[in-house]
Amino acid sequence: MVKVAVLAIIFLFISAPHVFADAAAGKAIFKKIGKCKNCHKITAKDKVGPGLAGISKRAPEKWLKAWLKDSLAVWKANEGYTITLKKAVDKESKPKPAHKVKAKLSDRQINDLVDYLKTL
Ligand code: HEC
Repeated sequence: MVKVAVLAIIFLFISAPHVFADAAAGKAIFKKIGKCKNCHKITAKDKVGPGLAGISKRAPEKWLKAWLKDSLAVWKANEGYTITLKKAVDKESKPKPAHKVKAKLSDRQINDLVDYLKTL
């Protein structure tokens, strides 16, 4: 039993930096590559887009990933959390989202970003 516990603790120490590394990479993408911070504050305060504090508590992870991959498609599909978001930003009749990410993000970058968003 003791051996298992020791191994579990060692494993936690080995794996923990990876968990943090993802969020740290996501933070860098938020600032530089995606230029998210041009439009979003990480507090509850709105800028061009909504403040992102607590975002992972209101939006499902699956929705966040889809949104960062192709927000136009998510906007047009008009389902689930998108309906809530459109109401919140008062753009229920707009055909296109104002959320525009110029850099094409890889799946890895999107996962890192979402890990970072979970810390907000
Ligand atoms: C040009 C400005 C702009 C940029 C750049 C931008 N966004 Fe947005 N974002 C918006 C706007 C505006 C909305 C609100 C929906 C809409 O009108 O399109 C939004 C919505 C969101 C939402 C949903 C917010 C909520 O309250 O549900 C998330 C999450 C988000 N953006 C994350 C990001 C991330 C991460 C990046 C960087 C990869 C980014 N955005 C880049 C403008 C922007």
